[in-house]
Amino acid sequence: MEEYDKREKLKDFYLKIKDCTKCELSKTRTKFVFGGGSAYANIMLVGEAPGKNEDLQGLPFVGQAGKILDSLLDSIGTSRDQVFIANVLKCRPPGNRDPGVEEIESCKGYLMEQIEIIDPKIICTMGKFSTQVLLDTDKGITGLRGKVFRANGRLVMPINHPAAALYTPSRMEILRQDFKKIKMLIESGADTEVLHDDLLNIENEGGEKSGEQLGLF
Ligand code: URA
Repeated sequence: MEEYDKREKLKDFYLKIKDCTKCELSKTRTKFVFGGGSAYANIMLVGEAPGKNEDLQGLPFVGQAGKILDSLLDSIGTSRDQVFIANVLKCRPPGNRDPGVEEIESCKGYLMEQIEIIDPKIICTMGKFSTQVLLDTDKGITGLRGKVFRANGRLVMPINHPAAALYTPSRMEILRQDFKKIKMLIESGADTEVLHDDLLNIENEGGEKSGEQLGLF
Protein backbone atom coordinates (compact mmCIF):
# COMPACT_ATOMS: atom_id res chain seq x y z
CA MET A 1 0.00 0.00 0.00
CA GLU A 2 1.29 3.49 -0.85
CA GLU A 3 2.37 5.50 2.19
CA TYR A 4 -0.07 8.26 1.30
CA ASP A 5 -2.87 5.72 1.15
CA LYS A 6 -2.12 4.52 4.67
CA ARG A 7 -2.75 7.95 6.16
CA GLU A 8 -5.92 8.44 4.17
CA LYS A 9 -7.14 4.94 4.96
CA LEU A 10 -6.53 5.40 8.65
CA LYS A 11 -8.36 8.70 8.63
CA ASP A 12 -11.30 7.20 6.72
CA PHE A 13 -11.38 4.32 9.19
CA TYR A 14 -11.43 6.75 12.12
CA LEU A 15 -14.36 8.63 10.58
CA LYS A 16 -16.18 5.35 10.03
CA ILE A 17 -15.90 4.08 13.62
CA LYS A 18 -15.67 7.18 15.83
CA ASP A 19 -19.37 7.19 16.69
CA CYS A 20 -19.46 3.47 17.47
CA THR A 21 -22.34 2.23 19.60
CA LYS A 22 -21.57 -1.49 19.45
CA CYS A 23 -21.25 -1.84 23.22
CA GLU A 24 -22.46 -0.21 26.41
CA LEU A 25 -19.22 1.74 26.86
CA SER A 26 -20.44 4.13 24.17
CA LYS A 27 -23.06 5.36 26.66
CA THR A 28 -20.57 6.35 29.33
CA ARG A 29 -17.60 7.55 27.29
CA THR A 30 -16.72 11.21 26.88
CA LYS A 31 -14.52 10.69 23.82
CA PHE A 32 -13.75 7.77 21.55
CA VAL A 33 -9.99 7.11 21.69
CA PHE A 34 -8.91 5.89 18.27
CA GLY A 35 -5.16 5.95 18.98
CA GLY A 36 -2.43 8.18 17.67
CA GLY A 37 0.96 8.45 16.05
CA SER A 38 2.30 7.80 12.59
CA ALA A 39 0.33 5.83 10.01
CA TYR A 40 3.71 4.83 8.59
CA ALA A 41 5.13 3.47 11.85
CA ASN A 42 7.10 0.22 11.86
CA ILE A 43 6.06 -0.40 15.42
CA MET A 44 2.68 -0.27 17.14
CA LEU A 45 2.29 -0.25 20.90
CA VAL A 46 -1.01 -1.56 22.19
CA GLY A 47 -2.42 -0.88 25.65
CA GLU A 48 -5.61 -1.90 27.39
CA ALA A 49 -8.25 0.84 27.34
CA PRO A 50 -8.55 4.59 27.81
CA GLY A 51 -8.46 5.87 31.39
CA LYS A 52 -9.92 9.09 32.75
CA ASN A 53 -7.52 11.51 31.03
CA GLU A 54 -7.66 9.66 27.73
CA ASP A 55 -11.46 9.67 27.85
CA LEU A 56 -11.48 13.44 28.40
CA GLN A 57 -8.90 14.27 25.74
CA GLY A 58 -9.65 11.56 23.14
CA LEU A 59 -5.96 10.61 23.01
CA PRO A 60 -4.15 7.45 24.16
CA PHE A 61 -1.74 7.36 27.10
CA VAL A 62 -1.93 11.00 28.17
CA GLY A 63 -2.05 10.36 31.95
CA GLN A 64 0.55 9.03 34.39
CA ALA A 65 1.13 5.80 32.45
CA GLY A 66 1.59 7.93 29.33
CA LYS A 67 4.41 9.88 31.00
CA ILE A 68 6.18 6.60 31.73
CA LEU A 69 5.62 5.46 28.15
CA ASP A 70 7.05 8.74 26.82
CA SER A 71 10.16 8.34 28.96
CA LEU A 72 10.62 4.75 27.77
CA LEU A 73 10.26 5.78 24.14
CA ASP A 74 12.74 8.58 24.77
CA SER A 75 15.19 6.12 26.35
CA ILE A 76 15.46 4.30 23.00
CA GLY A 77 15.65 7.47 20.94
CA THR A 78 12.14 7.50 19.61
CA SER A 79 8.92 9.35 20.34
CA ARG A 80 5.19 8.95 19.96
CA ASP A 81 5.11 10.63 16.56
CA GLN A 82 7.31 7.85 15.16
CA VAL A 83 5.23 4.97 16.49
CA PHE A 84 1.49 4.27 16.61
CA ILE A 85 -0.17 3.86 20.00
CA ALA A 86 -3.57 2.20 20.32
CA ASN A 87 -5.65 0.24 22.81
CA VAL A 88 -7.72 -2.93 22.74
CA LEU A 89 -10.79 -0.91 23.78
CA LYS A 90 -11.51 2.46 22.25
CA CYS A 91 -13.78 3.63 25.07
CA ARG A 92 -13.15 3.91 28.81
CA PRO A 93 -14.59 1.23 31.07
CA PRO A 94 -16.28 3.12 33.95
CA GLY A 95 -14.01 3.48 36.97
CA ASN A 96 -11.14 2.00 34.94
CA ARG A 97 -12.39 -1.52 35.57
CA ASP A 98 -10.93 -4.35 33.48
CA PRO A 99 -12.29 -4.70 29.94
CA GLY A 100 -15.14 -7.22 29.71
CA VAL A 101 -15.00 -10.25 27.41
CA GLU A 102 -17.88 -8.97 25.27
CA GLU A 103 -16.39 -5.48 25.08
CA ILE A 104 -13.13 -6.97 23.83
CA GLU A 105 -15.02 -9.09 21.31
CA SER A 106 -16.90 -6.11 19.89
CA CYS A 107 -13.87 -3.82 19.80
CA LYS A 108 -10.96 -6.00 18.76
CA GLY A 109 -11.88 -5.93 15.07
CA TYR A 110 -11.08 -2.20 15.13
CA LEU A 111 -7.58 -2.89 16.43
CA MET A 112 -7.09 -5.61 13.83
CA GLU A 113 -8.12 -3.21 11.06
CA GLN A 114 -5.72 -0.56 12.37
CA ILE A 115 -2.93 -3.14 12.30
CA GLU A 116 -3.92 -4.13 8.76
CA ILE A 117 -3.77 -0.51 7.55
CA ILE A 118 -0.56 0.53 9.35
CA ASP A 119 1.07 -2.83 8.68
CA PRO A 120 3.78 -2.54 11.37
CA LYS A 121 6.60 -5.06 11.50
CA ILE A 122 6.61 -5.09 15.30
CA ILE A 123 3.75 -4.98 17.77
CA CYS A 124 4.54 -4.35 21.40
CA THR A 125 1.67 -5.48 23.59
CA MET A 126 1.55 -3.65 26.91
CA GLY A 127 -0.05 -5.72 29.65
CA LYS A 128 -2.23 -8.78 29.81
CA PHE A 129 -5.22 -7.79 27.70
CA SER A 130 -3.49 -6.73 24.49
CA THR A 131 -1.07 -9.64 24.81
CA GLN A 132 -3.87 -12.19 25.11
CA VAL A 133 -5.78 -10.66 22.20
CA LEU A 134 -2.82 -10.43 19.83
CA LEU A 135 -1.25 -13.77 20.69
CA ASP A 136 -4.64 -15.44 20.97
CA THR A 137 -3.65 -16.98 24.29
CA ASP A 138 -5.01 -17.33 27.81
CA LYS A 139 -1.54 -17.15 29.36
CA GLY A 140 -0.61 -14.43 31.83
CA ILE A 141 1.80 -11.61 31.08
CA THR A 142 4.45 -12.73 33.57
CA GLY A 143 5.53 -15.74 31.55
CA LEU A 144 5.31 -13.94 28.22
CA ARG A 145 6.89 -10.53 28.77
CA GLY A 146 10.25 -9.92 27.17
CA LYS A 147 9.82 -12.80 24.73
CA VAL A 148 9.36 -12.32 21.02
CA PHE A 149 6.69 -14.16 19.07
CA ARG A 150 5.81 -14.38 15.44
CA ALA A 151 2.08 -14.04 14.87
CA ASN A 152 0.40 -13.41 11.53
CA GLY A 153 3.68 -12.48 9.90
CA ARG A 154 4.65 -9.86 12.49
CA LEU A 155 6.87 -9.86 15.53
CA VAL A 156 4.91 -9.48 18.75
CA MET A 157 6.71 -8.60 21.96
CA PRO A 158 4.70 -8.48 25.19
CA ILE A 159 5.87 -6.17 27.98
CA ASN A 160 4.41 -5.13 31.30
CA HIS A 161 1.88 -2.33 31.18
CA PRO A 162 3.63 1.01 31.93
CA ALA A 163 1.09 1.65 34.73
CA ALA A 164 2.60 -1.32 36.58
CA ALA A 165 5.71 0.79 37.14
CA LEU A 166 3.62 3.44 38.89
CA TYR A 167 3.05 1.19 41.86
CA THR A 168 6.08 -1.09 41.66
CA PRO A 169 9.25 0.88 40.88
CA SER A 170 11.33 -2.29 40.29
CA ARG A 171 9.12 -2.92 37.24
CA MET A 172 10.51 0.25 35.70
CA GLU A 173 13.88 -1.42 35.34
CA ILE A 174 12.27 -4.43 33.68
CA LEU A 175 10.47 -2.09 31.29
CA ARG A 176 13.73 -0.30 30.49
CA GLN A 177 15.40 -3.63 29.71
CA ASP A 178 12.49 -4.70 27.53
CA PHE A 179 12.62 -1.40 25.65
CA LYS A 180 16.28 -2.07 24.87
CA LYS A 181 15.17 -5.30 23.22
CA ILE A 182 12.51 -3.41 21.30
CA LYS A 183 15.23 -1.03 20.06
CA MET A 184 17.23 -4.01 18.86
CA LEU A 185 14.23 -5.42 17.03
CA ILE A 186 13.61 -2.07 15.36
CA GLU A 187 17.26 -1.73 14.36
CA SER A 188 17.25 -5.21 12.86
CA GLY A 189 14.39 -4.08 10.65
CA ALA A 190 12.41 -6.83 12.43
CA ASP A 191 13.97 -9.10 9.90
CA THR A 192 14.69 -12.37 11.66
CA GLU A 193 16.78 -13.39 8.64
CA VAL A 194 19.36 -10.73 9.42
CA LEU A 195 19.39 -11.19 13.19
CA HIS A 196 22.56 -12.78 14.43
CA ASP A 197 22.46 -16.60 14.63
CA ASP A 198 23.28 -16.52 18.32
CA LEU A 199 20.18 -14.50 18.92
CA LEU A 200 17.90 -16.48 16.71
CA ASN A 201 16.60 -19.73 18.00
CA ILE A 202 13.14 -20.36 16.73
CA GLU A 203 11.06 -22.51 19.02
CA ASN A 204 7.61 -23.68 18.26
CA GLU A 205 5.23 -23.64 21.17
CA GLY A 206 3.47 -26.62 19.49
CA GLY A 207 -0.10 -27.14 20.48
CA GLU A 208 -0.35 -23.83 22.31
CA LYS A 209 -2.68 -21.13 21.08
CA SER A 210 0.02 -18.47 21.22
CA GLY A 211 2.22 -17.55 18.27
CA GLU A 212 5.53 -19.13 17.53
CA GLN A 213 8.14 -17.96 20.01
CA LEU A 214 11.46 -16.67 18.74
CA GLY A 215 14.26 -17.16 21.28
CA LEU A 216 15.78 -13.87 20.26
CA PHE A 217 17.44 -12.64 23.41
N1 URA B 1 -3.78 2.72 29.95
C1 URA B 1 -4.03 2.11 28.77
O1 URA B 1 -3.98 0.91 28.65
N2 URA B 1 -4.30 2.89 27.73
C2 URA B 1 -4.34 4.21 27.79
O2 URA B 1 -4.59 4.85 26.77
C3 URA B 1 -4.07 4.82 29.02
C4 URA B 1 -3.80 4.05 30.09
